[in-house]
Amino acid sequence: MADRIESMQGIDMMSVLEAARGLAYSLGPVEQIPLGEGRVFEVDGRSIAVFRTRQGEVFATQAACPHREGPLCDGIIGGRQVVCPLHAYKFDLATGNPVGNDCEALRTYVVSVSESGDILLSSHD
Ligand code: FES
Repeated sequence: MADRIESMQGIDMMSVLEAARGLAYSLGPVEQIPLGEGRVFEVDGRSIAVFRTRQGEVFATQAACPHREGPLCDGIIGGRQVVCPLHAYKFDLATGNPVGNDCEALRTYVVSVSESGDILLSSHD
């Protein structure tokens, strides 16, 4: 029993349980995304942009802008919004809703950061 408990030390059990149930993809350390920036990850054939706000919150949306497929991860992040680099449409990162424009909403994904600092993307939208 002692061996078993010892072997569990240092492991983020939430990550293990989530992964075991197929509920999350680990995308690696959150530090790979500087504060106020976004990065694209290919997950199960989908391009997903993960954003880290200056306040340290993490959000995930579709990578391509629904207007004309601009690279949203290259946009400017202000608060909880991203400004598309191509035509400056704004979107709310939490809801995906357009802000001040009538573009289609972004698809959003459930994302969190594990105790060990890894980005966990839920397999559910
Ligand atoms: S492509 Fe994003 S605003 Fe036009």
